[in-house]
Amino acid sequence: MLRTRFTDLLECTAPVQVAAMPGVSTVELAAAVAEAGGLGMLGTPLLTPDALEGVLGELDEATSGATGVNFLMPFLDPACVAVAARRSRVVEFFYGDPDRQLVDEVHSHGARVSWQVGSVDEARSAERAGCDLLIAQGTEAGGHVRGRTSLLPLLSQVLDAVAVPVLAAGGIASARDLAAVLACGAAGARLGTRFLASNESGAHPDYVRAVLAASAGDTCLTEAFSVMWPDAPHRVLTSSIGAAEALADPVVGETRQGDQSLPVQRLSVMCPTRETTGHVEAMALYAGESVASILDVRPAAEIVAELTSGAEQLLAGAAG
Ligand SMILES: Cc1cc2nc3c(=O)[nH]c(=O)nc-3n(C[C@H](O)[C@H](O)[C@H](O)COP(=O)(O)O)c2cc1C
Repeated sequence: MLRTRFTDLLECTAPVQVAAMPGVSTVELAAAVAEAGGLGMLGTPLLTPDALEGVLGELDEATSGATGVNFLMPFLDPACVAVAARRSRVVEFFYGDPDRQLVDEVHSHGARVSWQVGSVDEARSAERAGCDLLIAQGTEAGGHVRGRTSLLPLLSQVLDAVAVPVLAAGGIASARDLAAVLACGAAGARLGTRFLASNESGAHPDYVRAVLAASAGDTCLTEAFSVMWPDAPHRVLTSSIGAAEALADPVVGETRQGDQSLPVQRLSVMCPTRETTGHVEAMALYAGESVASILDVRPAAEIVAELTSGAEQLLAGAAG
């Protein structure tokens, strides 16, 4: 077992967190990662407090492992924070200035607080705000990218600057990657794109196929998919930008959120899920540079087991 300050803090057994990826990180995926000993996360944008309560009830029935809820600050519904904090081990925030009031509110309900950061200044500020755990996100990451520094330089600086445990995120998909960041001093890793290609993922099958076929050079940082969320750089498969630009219609497909059917606007922030129809190839196909080493769809539990046992062996070999 790879015991770290992260596994101690969250009382779990694997130093691995699945990123909250709305529409992709299903209850099944969060539960599978938690059952495998990691931290299972759910994303929440546009959920009402009642709907969040319902989803967290499903998650509770599926696992008694470590789970958490992620909030994107630009879409934060403050009424959801207490619901998440009462029912999860960790409540997490991303893409906004660290906020002591929010941290205190989560703590008052007994949960831990984590904040994904993209710079050393943001890391210091999150620690000052009272966060228990930070995630240092390098620019290799899939999805929205907060900073301008790639993972290793950022991780080294953040580890020097703060005392709380730090997870590494961005471009991590293999046991070698996990071993590297643990050796550097990280308390674990957070992976998004690797779990997008898992059996439990909610991503559309064509999206998953495109991820499996891609190399690191097939992704780019862009602001192209900015409808609903402008001025926020994100890493996608480059092919999705050209495909979206080639379409003239303002609506490129349809998706579902709960019982509701929603149009997908061209260049919208929404990525295609199993329930999406239309021009999937022209939607936001978020992916990290980790695509290079993602070659197959696997059960999430196998991904966690392979990451941790492989990293343990590599680290033992390095020590010997
Ligand atoms: C499809 C997708 C959706 C994401 N959505 C969120 C989100 O809602 N909140 C968040 O904090 N991070 C989100 N991220 C970013 C992750 O937190 C993480 O930084 C990233 O996945 C790490 O890089 P990797 O994809 O190479 O593993 C998303 C990433 C992907 C790939």
